[in-house]
Amino acid sequence: MAEEKTILVTGGCGFIGSNFIHYMVGKYPNYRIINLDKLTYCGNLDNLCELVDYPHYSFVKGDIADSEKVRGIFQDERVDVIVNFAAESHVDRSIEDPDLFLRTNILGTQVLLEGAREMEIPLFVQISTDEVYGSLGSSGLFTETTPLRPNSPYAASKAAADLMVRAYTKTYGIDAIITRCSNNYGPYQFPEKLIPLMISNAMEDKELPIYGDGSNVRDWIYVEDHCRALDVILHHGVSGEIYNIGGACERTNLDVVKTILEIVGNPESLIQFDKDRPGHDRRYAMDFSKLQGELDWQPKVTFEEGIKQTVTWYIDNQDWWQRIKTGEYMEYYERMYGNR
Ligand code: NAD
Ligand code: TYD
Repeated sequence: MAEEKTILVTGGCGFIGSNFIHYMVGKYPNYRIINLDKLTYCGNLDNLCELVDYPHYSFVKGDIADSEKVRGIFQDERVDVIVNFAAESHVDRSIEDPDLFLRTNILGTQVLLEGAREMEIPLFVQISTDEVYGSLGSSGLFTETTPLRPNSPYAASKAAADLMVRAYTKTYGIDAIITRCSNNYGPYQFPEKLIPLMISNAMEDKELPIYGDGSNVRDWIYVEDHCRALDVILHHGVSGEIYNIGGACERTNLDVVKTILEIVGNPESLIQFDKDRPGHDRRYAMDFSKLQGELDWQPKVTFEEGIKQTVTWYIDNQDWWQRIKTGEYMEYYERMYGNR
């Protein structure tokens, strides 16, 4: 059995964080997991309801930018690894209102880094994104040495956080790793992001809003493959390094949406081409050969399998997303897409 560890997961009530906690609890039942989450609009305790009585899991409601709260956790618990998922994560919201992105994504990361420095936490893992690299043309891949050229306020805030992590490793000698992953999809993703929005709209016979002509390309990875990569990295990754994580699965948005409609069994006439997103990145694609070569990881789930499993999950869990598609979500939807 793996040596016992205590992991502080931030943002564990969100999409990837909750999948990661489920994955880790399943694989390392003797690890202790502390989940620090502010429960913003996209943080959902339902995602982890099976764990309420699980003795090695605890939930702390709080803000990563609250230094007292963060210090309190480190004083109460001997944390071995911090995995920082907590973030404002939606590009469209960052275009509407960037302020909160700076506070959570940059300042929040710095508060955690400061805690890691003060309490000499053995490892800090920063969950970053391919979006820090900016946009690709029709060829080429992002490598770990591609210059940072973020184009949205979200991407800029994530790039700034990455630079702060780097600064803390160089200046204070903390042990930290940065991971940069491509677009995830799977269970528990908030239905404002492309795939869950399109699945849930298709199930409700609503229009499917595609920005521009739908030819923008993303490199899709099934969330469990991302969790497996993080598992390998937090156990065997080298401190100070950056690791790209990708799905080797480039698809245009239009292809993705057509595939969803086919699985749900609804007509392509539901597709509605909308005005383009400002600063819309053309294409993302990851070179993850470093992770593959050094740590023997590669994605396992094909898009065809993963998207079917994801649609099935949204069919089987309609209560989960229908509860979300009310209140604040509807106001946001109306502002973004008009009252469709
Ligand atoms: P999400 O929006 O689903 O979840 C974010 C979580 O963070 C929520 O539970 C929210 O309540 C919590 N949170 C927000 N602000 C907080 C704060 N100030 N203090 C504590 N908790 C706070 O996001 P996600 O899609 O799961 O993304 C998780 C991380 O992975 C983010 O850092 C994101 O940048 C990164 N990432 C996401 C993708 C993707 O495709 N979704 C790809 C690459 C990297
Ligand atoms: P999104 O899921 O927001 O992820 P990101 O912008 O971080 O890559 O969007 C994925 C792609 O889908 C992106 O090219 C924008 C596009 N998109 C639409 O065409 N319509 C939508 O309603 C949304 C939310 C996204």
